[in-house]
Amino acid sequence: MKEKSGVETQYRLDQYLQLALGISRKEAGKAIRNRWVNVNDVLVTQRDFKVTEQDKIEVDDEVITYSSKKRYFMLHKPKGYVSSHRHDGHISLFRLLDENEDVETLHIAGRLDADTTGMVLITDDGQWSHRIMRPGHNNDEESDVAKTYEIKLARPMTDEMISQLEAGVELRGDELLTKPAIVERLEDHSEKMIRLTITEGRYHQVKRMLAAVGNHVEDLHRMQIGHLTLDGLAEGEYRALTDEEVEGF
Ligand code: URA
Repeated sequence: MKEKSGVETQYRLDQYLQLALGISRKEAGKAIRNRWVNVNDVLVTQRDFKVTEQDKIEVDDEVITYSSKKRYFMLHKPKGYVSSHRHDGHISLFRLLDENEDVETLHIAGRLDADTTGMVLITDDGQWSHRIMRPGHNNDEESDVAKTYEIKLARPMTDEMISQLEAGVELRGDELLTKPAIVERLEDHSEKMIRLTITEGRYHQVKRMLAAVGNHVEDLHRMQIGHLTLDGLAEGEYRALTDEEVEGF
């Protein structure tokens, strides 16, 4: 079994070969017994010999590697890119990542519509993305991850519309009211610019919420998820998250 020692994870040699080569534990044992495996340039014949991801492991003189380290990125999505690997008519936003990122293994923690801009989090850690996107995951509204959007509306925002969003609105086809949202007016003479913070991630949620109060979203931009802001990241650019940023969720 895998066990933690300090910061480095230790593996049995047969388990490491299994993970790195996608073979069975039995096949890994055979490779070790057949004296094909070197660890740090020394022949090893014990299946339970302990190794870490930092060791140099060779099978039949070929170096093999395995990394359990998960990957986390923040991307500033421009308009026109779709939040999926396939791109029916539009370009996938994964095309904005470097070719070497092994994009097929990555997924998006909270999609944006093709015409929405702003922050997208990308990872290969399913538990982490679930924590961020799952609506109401521990029945405590305060602890859900907040997402903040800047919105340009088709019509001026009335006080009545704001009160409705703050109280929760009924979305067509959904049983539950939306959770209370935070609405701020932005400096704009037309009164058509707002900032909206929600703690759920329902399908087309922002556009449906504004439609439910009799308005219409013209432009939508996600500026913040939880403690993360785009902070200087230009449209079309992405960067890896720091350990601290990842652990903040
Ligand atoms: N809500 C929407 O309606 N669209 C988005 O892209 C994100 C949130």
